[in-house]
Amino acid sequence: MKIPEITILAIESSCDDTGVAVIKGNQVLSNLVANQEIHSRYGGVVPELASRAHLSNITPTVDLALKDAGISHDKIDAVAYTIGPGLNGSLLVGTSFAKAWAWANDLPTVPVHHMRAHILAHFLAPNPAPDFPFLCMTVSGGHTQIVHVHSPSKMEVIGTTLDDAAGEAFDKVAKLIGLPYPGGPLIDKYAALGNPDSFSFSGSRVDGLDMSFSGLKTQVLRFLQKNLKSDPNFIDNHLNDFCASVQTSIVAMLISKLELAVEKTGITQVAIAGGVSANSGLRKALQEKSELESEPWIVFIPPLKYCTDNAAMVGMVGVFDAADKKFGTLSDTPKPRMPELTPSSQ
Ligand code: KG4
Ligand code: ZN
Repeated sequence: MKIPEITILAIESSCDDTGVAVIKGNQVLSNLVANQEIHSRYGGVVPELASRAHLSNITPTVDLALKDAGISHDKIDAVAYTIGPGLNGSLLVGTSFAKAWAWANDLPTVPVHHMRAHILAHFLAPNPAPDFPFLCMTVSGGHTQIVHVHSPSKMEVIGTTLDDAAGEAFDKVAKLIGLPYPGGPLIDKYAALGNPDSFSFSGSRVDGLDMSFSGLKTQVLRFLQKNLKSDPNFIDNHLNDFCASVQTSIVAMLISKLELAVEKTGITQVAIAGGVSANSGLRKALQEKSELESEPWIVFIPPLKYCTDNAAMVGMVGVFDAADKKFGTLSDTPKPRMPELTPSSQ
């Protein structure tokens, strides 16, 4: 599809990463993320600390992103920013900064739904983009959904988690074995060295395209309690095998739901998006699906830098919406609990 040649300054501050990007069409001119190390000490994101860190990061990160892009503010056509869902205080920093910067430079704003941004990250160059319609499984710290993507603006959630998100499941299991937040990438790292068949976790089964991850956490908790009784060093002694087994069961659950979604919709272009799409087990399992002759899936796996939260993906939504003149106003305020992706929420 032809991507409009619009230049966007994009800001992402929905959680604990301050992201700023400049993109022109689907070309990423700069894409910076100021990570907030501070939360790892607390086992999760501390909202108050996150908004304070956004406040100190945002101005220098915007300056640097413009400098990296080699572009001055008068070449920007619109300012896109994440309006929700996310942490209220974090969103407030990005929203206020974006509106103020746009107003000072006489530019329109584009408020962006965070999950739509994860999905449209697939249109960022240089990777081949899917054609419409396609299926996208969004797997992040706050969401796990299967989305039927009709167009850049029409997206329909056809399956969702009934409790925890997949990223949350990774993080909670990691916390149970004493790993710092975010535990997902660490489980992935240790899993690479372990045997996935060592232990078996089934999680809870849900009919249809919906999913559930809270049962897995309880099952893992009981498993650890039992094994730590007989071997107090059980975690140290079996870290890699344990991580490999947990990861395999989460990935198996996600892939089985994708299989069902392909069967139900007949759509064979399958994408993944969001932080957990960085997981090497999930990437490998999906890649293998596309290599099976019996399963003619065309798979879309984002580059690692566009899996976790970043502003380039927000800019991509900005390009599509600015082309349709879908702009926000200066009265827009953060929407921490934005509705799901339905045509009316976009
Ligand atoms: O999309 P994201 O950066 O932020 C949200 O919108 O939530 O996703 C963050 C989530 C965290 O739960 C993190 O543990 C998980 O993505 N994550 C991973 C990996 N990288 C990030 N989970 C498993 N394996 C990874 N390699
Ligand atoms: Zn995200």
